[in-house]
This record gives sequence, C-alpha cells and structure tokens, in this order.
Amino acid sequence: MEKSLDDFFEKVITVKWGPGKRSVDIIDQTLLPGTIKRIQVSTKEEIWEAIKKLRVRGAPAIGVCAAYGMAELAAKFDTENYPDFYHQFMEVKNYLATSRPTAVNLFWALNRMEDTLKANSTKTTAQIKDLLYAEAEKIREEDIQISRSIGEIGFGLLKDLKKDGEPIGIETHCNAGTLATAKYGTATAPMYIALEHGWAPEDMHVYCDETRPLLQGARLTSFELSRAGITTTCQCDNMASLLMKSGKIRIIFVGCDRVAANGDAANKIGTSGLAIIARHYGIPFYVCAPSSTIDMKTKTGEGIPIEMRDPEEIKSMWYKEPMVPAEVDTSFNPAFDVTDHSLITGIITEKGLCRAPYEDAFRKLGIQ
Ligand code: MRU
Repeated sequence: MEKSLDDFFEKVITVKWGPGKRSVDIIDQTLLPGTIKRIQVSTKEEIWEAIKKLRVRGAPAIGVCAAYGMAELAAKFDTENYPDFYHQFMEVKNYLATSRPTAVNLFWALNRMEDTLKANSTKTTAQIKDLLYAEAEKIREEDIQISRSIGEIGFGLLKDLKKDGEPIGIETHCNAGTLATAKYGTATAPMYIALEHGWAPEDMHVYCDETRPLLQGARLTSFELSRAGITTTCQCDNMASLLMKSGKIRIIFVGCDRVAANGDAANKIGTSGLAIIARHYGIPFYVCAPSSTIDMKTKTGEGIPIEMRDPEEIKSMWYKEPMVPAEVDTSFNPAFDVTDHSLITGIITEKGLCRAPYEDAFRKLGIQ
C-alpha cells in the first residue's frame, strides 16, 4: 500500500510526456501487476502497437495517448507549408485510428486534434505545433476533472448505502480505474473520491471480476485498489451469480467504451452478463461514462463495432503452456459486449446522473 493516495496516483500515471516532449511515456500495463515499468513510445508504429497490444488501454487513456502521440509526432514534421503539414497530420491520424475500433474516445481525441489544426490554418507551423501540444494537455487535464465529477456523483450513491460499521460491497468489471484514465478512473472514481472525503479504506469492499481473457480486473483493478488500501477481493467471472446471490454486493459500477444514443453501453466482454445477473438479484447497475464516450451518432448498440482479438489470448497468452488443445478453435474472442439500456440503472456522466430514457437525458445535459 502507498503512503498516500497522491503518492499512489503519482506512481501509476498512465500517460505523460517523455523527455523534451519528444515521446509519450506510458506505464506498460501488459507487465502489471508483477512489474511496474514505464516505456517511451515515439514513432507512429510504436504508439499504434502500444494501443493495439493494450500497453495503454481503457477508453479515456487511449484518447489521451493518441492526442499526446499526435502532438509529438506533428512536432517532428519538417515543413512550414500548411497543406503539407495537414497532409502529414492526416496520414498519422488515420493510421492511429486503425489501432482499436470500439472505444470512441480514440476517434474523439484524434478529431479534437484535427479540429485544432484546422482552426489555426493561418498560423505558422511552429505556432500550430505549440497549439497541438496544448490541446493534448487540455484533453488530459479535462479527463482528470471529468473523472473527479463522475466520482462525486458515484460517491453520492455510496453515501446513500452507508450503514455504520458495515463495509459497502461493490462489484466492478475489467479496469475502469486510474490505469484506464488520467487520474481517478470512472468506475473506481466513487471509491477514490470517498477516500478523499475521509472515508476509511475499509468502509468499502470492492469485488473485482478477474475479466477473462486479458485479466484486467485481476491484474489491474485489484492491483490499483489494493495499492490504494481499499479492501479488495478478486473472483473469477463465473462466480458473479453466486456472489450477488450471497447478498455481499450492494452496487455495481462499470466503465464503458462507447455508449449509443439510446443508452446501450459497450464495455469489456462479460459486462452484459453481469448486468443480467444484477437485474435478477435486484442490484443497482451503474455505467460510468465521460461524455466523450457517449456517441450520439450511433443510435443503438447494434451500431457499435466490436473488436475481435487474437485467438491466442484465450488459448495461451497468460499460461505457461496452452490451456486449450492446439487443434481447438478459439477464434470467437470479442473484446467487448453491449449491455442493453433496459438493464442499466443509471449512466453517470461528469455533467450529471442520467436515467432512462437516456437519449432525452443526454440531450438535457447538453450532450449532442
Ligand atoms: O480492452 P480494454 O482493457 O481497453 O477495455 C477497457 C474497458 O472495457 C473499460 O471498462 C473501459 O474502457 C472504460 S475505462 C474508464
């Protein structure tokens, strides 16, 4: 456990600038929890690979990494001619956009960088380079404020559940924590904000689903929550029903990678099963969603592209030897599923808590 929450946040900063802002410095999340190692990625191929291979992952962190990457790559363009600069920028932007398809924050962040470029087309390329750095920084700073606001709203829900002397049982899936964002996480933000408001770590007991096949819950969420001192249990995904039946879980917080206009929410594979079980046992199920993750152009979950990943993730990736016979097919490996809006108790955005009908609720908060 770290000395203080701030020490802990400092140690696990997901994305920061490398020396001279010539690279992006990330914590390599594929090595956690055993090894805390930072790496610097600077070429477009290295940045693409880091996102694709989940060295940096989680919707908001992917967005921040792409924005930082765009800024430091554009800073190296050797031209003073705007059309030429724009052409090179779009080549990199379009390439980075192919790294992962589901988290809309990737495209949102890249589009913000392009908008900054276009809005300043009359400036010198040296000025544009500075403005791109500033925009990338703004995206990161905003993410910290956004997850803080989500945390405050989620903390309000926790306060309603608090009974003296009894820790509140909270379940979460995948990692929508500090490692997935610039600071507080989204699904974990209510817990971190509770600590900032003076709650004792043992006031909460967080149950982290291990999250097969890439184990983000086991490797990342249980790592960060226990480092922050919060009582943490990690259980296998297929234990969710018995766990909820036991009465230990009072509330569920999950993150999301893209929310459609009707409130259907894509998140790590297994999330929708959790929501179905939660409905069965009458447990409130909240999706924590920065407004950058809400995609009003996608009307329903049917329109959300689901990333399919390498079959080896199921067969052999985390094991000493393959855990499925070599001849057996493991090609069905979707990284995300979509939770139907009807199963969601509420969607917590930084602008407020939304209840169904979600499209109206989003529009009322100015999310377009
Ligand atoms: O494949 P990953 O690890 O990038 O998936 C991450 C998730 O599904 C998170 O829950 C989501 O991105 C929200 S992060 C605040």
